[in-house]
Amino acid sequence: MGTEKGTQIKSFGNFRDTNPIVVRRCTLEDLEGVINVNEQELPEDYPYFFYKSILDNYPESFLVACNSNKEIIGYIMWRVERTPAITNLKLKNNGHLVSIAVLKNYRRLGIATTLLSHSMKKIKKYKVDEYVLEVRMSNFEATNLYKKFKFDTQSIKEKYYRDGENAYYMTFKA
Ligand code: ACO
Ligand code: ZN
Repeated sequence: MGTEKGTQIKSFGNFRDTNPIVVRRCTLEDLEGVINVNEQELPEDYPYFFYKSILDNYPESFLVACNSNKEIIGYIMWRVERTPAITNLKLKNNGHLVSIAVLKNYRRLGIATTLLSHSMKKIKKYKVDEYVLEVRMSNFEATNLYKKFKFDTQSIKEKYYRDGENAYYMTFKA
């Protein structure tokens, strides 16, 4: 099934009877909407070129969720980083979850679950050895989501965020 832009991955039956929600690949025209969701839902903001470079380099795993008015209501983006393994210093590829967010009115419908499960399959094509992410220790919803996806806490990154909050560094073997 196709849409006018991007590839439709999942249509969420009906949201409040009238609003089907669609998950599909992000396009250049979607970036404004993605930035809007990020600014509403997360204190970590990025410049436009940062989103653009992720879209240019890892388009397959950059997904958006849209409502029936074609507004962006959620997104997920990843990048791949080559880093030495702690144990043997051999280089490995980490699929790094850069950011995920869903607008408040659309939470708890399984949208983040769909964004994560589809994008993880896509980022794996870059020969990823491990999926990694940081999350605020106070972010109960998100840490719960990652645990549901079998991520484990590897370590705590002290004062990872600009406001001084610590992060859980969570990983999952691909
Ligand atoms: N309380 C407890 N657990 C929750 C909650 C909640 N309010 N919301 C989600 N979860 C967990 C549950 O395990 C849930 O599974 P379940 O419904 O079977 O119990 C699981 O997450 C999946 O729920 P979804 O409906 O798929 O998640 P949703 O679409 O609501 O989005 C998200 C979850 C992205 C964390 C959302 O709350 C959000 O946008 N928060 C603000 C932005 C944010 O914190 N992003 C993550 C930052 S870290 C990073 O980006 C690397
Ligand atoms: Zn990170």
